[in-house]
Amino acid sequence: MRVADKVAVVTGGGAGIGAAVATALAAAGARVVVADLDEVAALAVSARINGEYPGTTVGVGADAADTAAIRELIAVAEREFGPVDLYFANAGISGAAGLDATEDDWDLSLAVNLRAHIRAAQLLVPGWVERGEGYFVSTASAAGLLTQIGSATYSVTKHAAVGFAEWLNITYGDQGVRVSCLCPMGVNTKLLYAGRDSGEALGAAATRAVVSAGEVLEPAEVAEIVLAAVDAEQFLILPHPQVLEMYRNKGSDYDRWLRGMRRYQSALLAETH
Ligand SMILES: NC(=O)c1ccc[n+]([C@@H]2O[C@H](COP(=O)([O-])OP(=O)(O)OC[C@H]3O[C@@H](n4cnc5c(N)ncnc54)[C@H](O)[C@@H]3O)[C@@H](O)[C@H]2O)c1
Repeated sequence: MRVADKVAVVTGGGAGIGAAVATALAAAGARVVVADLDEVAALAVSARINGEYPGTTVGVGADAADTAAIRELIAVAEREFGPVDLYFANAGISGAAGLDATEDDWDLSLAVNLRAHIRAAQLLVPGWVERGEGYFVSTASAAGLLTQIGSATYSVTKHAAVGFAEWLNITYGDQGVRVSCLCPMGVNTKLLYAGRDSGEALGAAATRAVVSAGEVLEPAEVAEIVLAAVDAEQFLILPHPQVLEMYRNKGSDYDRWLRGMRRYQSALLAETH
C-alpha cells in the first residue's frame, strides 16, 4: 500500500519504534494519529512531527488496550483526516519475568500485547472489508517466533500476537485487508533495557539475551524497514534477517533448538550472577 495521503493510527507512538514509524509515515505523506498511554509523550512527538511536516499529525493520550479509547482514536482520525487506512498496533510492554508473575501481570501483558490488537481489529476490519481496503500492522517481536529468554509474559503474548496477525491475514487477506507482523530483535528503546533495569536475574538475562543475539538497531532504521514492507505488502517484517535462519532451525529440529536455547540461557545467567 502506498502510504502517501493515507490516514494512519500508531499506538505507542509517544516513544521508540512507534514515534519513529509515525515520523516516517508523515515524511512519506501520510496523516497520523499518534496515540500513547503517556499523553505528554504523544503530544510532544506529534508537535515535533508537525514542526517538520505541518498539519500531518495529532497526538492523543489513549490506552491502546481499551475498546472505548480505540473507538475514540478512530473518531479523532476521521474527524481530523478521514477514515483510518492503516492501524499500527505497536504499543507493548516487556512485562514480568518468571513464574512469579502475578495474575495482574499476566492480565496487563495480555491486554496490551494481544487483546489491544484483537479489539482494534474488531472495530476496523468490518469497515475495511466493506471498503475493500485496509492495513493492520502488528508489532510483535522475534520473541513471538523464538521465545524471549527470561520472560514468560512477553514470550507468550508475543507468540499470540503473531498468531492473531496470521489468522487475520488468512481470514481477510482475500477481502482487501493487508496484514504485516513486525518481529525485531533488539531495538534501542526504553523497553529493551527494562529487564536489565528491573534488577532481577531473569530480567537482566532477558535484556542481555537480546543485546548479545545481534545488532541493536535504531528505531528510525526499523521504521524505514516497516514502511518498505508496507509498500510491498509483505507479511513478516524482520529487521534482523538472521531471525529467519533461527526460525528455520527451530522448525527443522525443535529439540535441538530447545537444547541450544537452554545452553544460551545458562551462559547468560552465569554472566549476570
Ligand atoms: N525495543 C525492542 O528491542 C523491541 C524488540 C521487539 C519488539 N518490540 C516491540 O515494539 C513495540 C514498541 O516498543 P518500543 O521498543 O518502541 O518501546 P518504548 O518503551 O520505547 O515504547 C512503547 C510505548 O508504548 C506506550 N504504551 C505502553 N502501554 C500502552 C498502552 N496500553 N496504550 C498505549 N500506549 C502504551 C509507552 O508509553 C511507550 O511510549 C512493543 O510492542 C515492543 O514489544 C520492541
